[in-house]
Amino acid sequence: MTGTKIDGNIIAKSVKDRVKKAVDELKLQGVNPCLATVLVGDNPASTTYVRNKHKACEEVGILTKDHKLQSTFSQKEMNELIDSLNNDYSIHGILVQLPLPEHLDKFETISRISPIKDVDGLTPHNVGLLAMKKAALVACTPSGVIEMFDYHNINLDGKIVVLINRSNLIGKPLYHLLLARNATVITCHSKTKNLKDICQTADVVITAVGDRTKFTLIPDMIKDGAVVIDVAITQHNGKLVGDTDFDKIIEKASFASPVPGGVGPMTVAMLLKNTVTAASLIKGLAKQ
Ligand code: GUN
Repeated sequence: MTGTKIDGNIIAKSVKDRVKKAVDELKLQGVNPCLATVLVGDNPASTTYVRNKHKACEEVGILTKDHKLQSTFSQKEMNELIDSLNNDYSIHGILVQLPLPEHLDKFETISRISPIKDVDGLTPHNVGLLAMKKAALVACTPSGVIEMFDYHNINLDGKIVVLINRSNLIGKPLYHLLLARNATVITCHSKTKNLKDICQTADVVITAVGDRTKFTLIPDMIKDGAVVIDVAITQHNGKLVGDTDFDKIIEKASFASPVPGGVGPMTVAMLLKNTVTAASLIKGLAKQ
């Protein structure tokens, strides 16, 4: 059996088309959606990600403000920058690219972002709303994964979904989104025992380990017809790879997403969607 490829480029394009229409409508109402990005240091992967985010904004008509900072940027300076972005009415979304250098406190930094401009959905406020099924701004990679299921009409009701990741950025928000779709969600991590046995029970496996020297999700680990979403993206032997070998896993899966060209483009598309949502929310607030 050969499954269906879940093509992130195609699905992201459909999201971007919708976002572009929403941007055009906001502009007609006098709102120019604008995303501010904050990048500290010169991590090459982060630099590429931020560049791609700017390019995507441009494609749909979202303005960007770029804050590229030296790796010596202090916590005090970071707090001041976030405060100024929070108070800047021309800015609707704030994204602090992660990871941050060691000397900066991730929690302090993210928590300082105004929840209404938190287009990454990572502030404690928005994380709490997500757990209560009330979030307007949800972390981009997890909501992109849900968009992939929706595009292919993959119903999660009563399905066993195994998540191999427990991070704030991926595993935890996905847990809530999947639970809200009535899935039975099992969250696995580096200390999980019998991972293979657990994966073999899964109707859906979502994997985000990102270290091929430690882990590969091989076809033996999934059941026939499982859905496999590969969220990882890492360099291995000079190539960009995920946690699976797509050509092999697709032989056994009913649906699978490749790397590159899977979840990656979805993350960017959902960031654009969140920026438009934030601009609309702010506009609503301004009216009150
Ligand atoms: N680093 C890797 N993925 C992300 C993301 O979705 N948002 C931010 N802010 N940083 C990241």
